[in-house]
Amino acid sequence: MRNFLVAGNWKMNCGPEETKKLLQGIKNSGISIPETIDVLVCPPMISLTVASDELKDAAGIALGAQNVHYEDNGAYTGEVSTQMLNEVDCEYVIIGHSERREYFGETDQTVNAKVKKSLSDGLRPVICVGESLKQRKAGEHQLIVRKQVEAALTEVDEEDAEDLVVAYEPIWAIGTGETATPDQAQEMHKMIRGVLSDLYASNVADNIQLLYGGSMKPHNAEELLSQPDVDGGLIGGASLKADSFTEIIKIAD
Ligand code: G3P
Repeated sequence: MRNFLVAGNWKMNCGPEETKKLLQGIKNSGISIPETIDVLVCPPMISLTVASDELKDAAGIALGAQNVHYEDNGAYTGEVSTQMLNEVDCEYVIIGHSERREYFGETDQTVNAKVKKSLSDGLRPVICVGESLKQRKAGEHQLIVRKQVEAALTEVDEEDAEDLVVAYEPIWAIGTGETATPDQAQEMHKMIRGVLSDLYASNVADNIQLLYGGSMKPHNAEELLSQPDVDGGLIGGASLKADSFTEIIKIAD
């Protein structure tokens, strides 16, 4: 049985001071996280050390990064390595977010390289896939997402696949308030589950957490999380407020 995973992608928000305040707000909310719910927060790189310190007394809340490089070190200005993320106790790393694909030249090939490097160095990739509005209107959404999943998982073996997380984030729903309907989310999650079943044995494919991302809020979380192949959320805006993020955790329970 898969745990729900409620993950916050803070994007370019919350420097070290705001990070401390937000995490203290989550801890002080009185939320008690059951063993059936995994919780993850992904602050910006500059705030990871502070977040790591703040989470030392927050059982049940894991730390993740929003990106990583696929090399160990070297002349890659502005980048961070898996070893650096391990040093600040990151357990997860978001890879291939549509904003990195759109603005920073992330490709299916670099996503795959980062997925393999993360898995080999003990980090759990949260692989982001999703179609544009134009692709959906053209009826290409299933093909586009299938190809993204298959490319991201090239040369990823079954043993490593157990640590994967996949986030379906329709680009047209990110930050827009235009959330996918539960049926739209389930259709795509079921398709992704099918791709994983083609690649891996069912006992592996069935246990990979599939997150929905794209304007998930407390008012729509329950209908999305009630879908059979929706195992949680990758939440942007609503994760920046302690009360809305903890509300979604309660709904997932
Ligand atoms: O990675 C999650 C993010 O893309 C969703 O953002 O603000 O629509 O919840 P938001």
